[in-house]
Amino acid sequence: MRALSLLLVLLLSPILVAAEAPFYIGIKQCKLCHQPHYDSWRTTHMSKAFDLLKANVRADKKRAAGLNPLKDYTADPACLACHTTGYGKEGGFVSLEKTPDMVNVQCEMCHGPGSIYVEMMLKKRGTYTREDYLTKGGMTMPSKESNICTTACHNQASPFINAGFEFNFENRKDIGTHRHDIEYIDNPLNF
Ligand code: HEC
Ligand code: HEC
Ligand code: HEC
Repeated sequence: MRALSLLLVLLLSPILVAAEAPFYIGIKQCKLCHQPHYDSWRTTHMSKAFDLLKANVRADKKRAAGLNPLKDYTADPACLACHTTGYGKEGGFVSLEKTPDMVNVQCEMCHGPGSIYVEMMLKKRGTYTREDYLTKGGMTMPSKESNICTTACHNQASPFINAGFEFNFENRKDIGTHRHDIEYIDNPLNF
């Protein structure tokens, strides 16, 4: 486990150093320090959002929304922005073949592309501040006010959201993100 983690850091560091604008790196890079958040996220619909695009999944709902239940939508650009991570952006989902790790609505869809803030978090705690990763690091924290959820996905561009839909942030935070009562794994690399 320790060797694997170090390998991860070594693999990451060359690209991270060169980074100017943050780009997507995928959930495997978050798991290292946030395994409990990961386990909790796995139990939500967000971790299965890509499967909804497959043929015959939720057939009745698709038919009712005017979609073709027999069609495979997993390569349809009209669906990918909200059912994958970072579609069309650097490091983000391209296709199931090229970027199989970027399916579903992962951490970075809600917290922003992670290349820069993870570089900060990989350093010793105390060498960066919360302000660093929330401003220079490109991290986003969804809130009722910030509208990240409704601007990005929970809006009428979805075939399943009708006019008059109201997004309940507190309720969705409970069922659609992860538990919010867990500690970080501090210093997982023992640095
Ligand atoms: C090297 C370990 C490490 C990795 C890898 C890591 N984190 Fe973190 N993360 C932390 C630590 C430690 C904190 C607590 C910050 C602090 O107090 O210094 C934290 C805090 C956070 C917070 C809370 C911020 C706040 O101020 O409330 C979010 C959100 C977060 N991480 C998301 C992610 C995401 C998304 C990824 C993957 C792209 C990731 N982290 C990868 C260690 C890590
Ligand atoms: C703008 C973002 C967005 C786009 C584009 C989008 N979806 Fe979704 N989709 C969502 C959201 C958000 C939900 C969850 C709705 C809810 O629970 O409020 C969802 C839910 C679904 C569901 C589950 C519906 C149910 O009630 O069980 C299916 C199936 C689905 N989408 C398929 C598709 C397909 C196929 C496309 C492309 C033709 C597509 N989506 C395009 C955001 C989007
Ligand atoms: C669907 C959106 C969504 C996804 C996906 C998501 N988060 Fe969050 N995350 C949130 C929201 C919302 C908050 C809380 C903001 C608040 O306190 O109001 C949050 C808060 C956090 C915090 C701060 C402490 C806490 O628990 O409230 C950490 C750490 C964190 N997320 C890490 C992660 C990691 C790691 C992943 C991926 C395994 C992830 N998040 C996936 C929406 C998301």
